[in-house]
Amino acid sequence: MPRLMSAQEEAKKNAARAALAYLPESGIVGLGTGSTAKHFIDGVGELIKEGRKFSAVPTSEQSRIQALDLGIPLAPVDGPWEIDVCVDGADEVSDALDLIKGGGAAHTREKIVNYASRCNIIVVDDSKLSPQLGEKWKVPLEILHFAHRATAEALRTFGELSQRQKNGQALITDSGNYVYDLATGPITDPRELDTRLRALPGVVETGLFCQRADIVLIATQEGVIEKKK
Ligand code: 5RP
Repeated sequence: MPRLMSAQEEAKKNAARAALAYLPESGIVGLGTGSTAKHFIDGVGELIKEGRKFSAVPTSEQSRIQALDLGIPLAPVDGPWEIDVCVDGADEVSDALDLIKGGGAAHTREKIVNYASRCNIIVVDDSKLSPQLGEKWKVPLEILHFAHRATAEALRTFGELSQRQKNGQALITDSGNYVYDLATGPITDPRELDTRLRALPGVVETGLFCQRADIVLIATQEGVIEKKK
């Protein structure tokens, strides 16, 4: 029997599907990571089957495998790319449209693809909204394996820190690093925090995306709302 979709899953799908209308007729598309972005990738696969010409840059192994399964042509991994539109999810979206990402531990690749894209569209359901970042979500940090305990010690001055686990083991990212999650509480200046965190040796990347969303599509009970930078 087909699995029934929860209301939240339905909302994620609605937001992701709405993003398809923002794609050019053909071009290079950035594929985000996570349960919302997955619906968008499904949609790109359908457009390819209808004859649209896209190539894609996936932001994780998970999205790469999904794209390959759907027959979506992939751009070479080394870049550089001129991506027309990137569509990705987020864990928290502030009133100022800053983001916390990295719930799927893909934030380093996601940030690289975001910076290589002319237009970044973020797709979320309305549970992801909060006035200030840090109210609902911790800041994910990709940390180099080497000396990670020393890096963690330095990070503890910023807030409570926990190393992310998966199946009882330390989670390893697609790039072979660890992820730590930093509980900061409400963040008044995300850009400043991002700069200070990235200044620490051993911090590969943070999940703070400051002013990197051109458009946010939010699925609400009344339909999908568009917010622009
Ligand atoms: C992965 C991410 C995801 O976009 C974020 O975690 C949202 O995921 P979902 O759509 O499953 O709620 O940043 O690193």
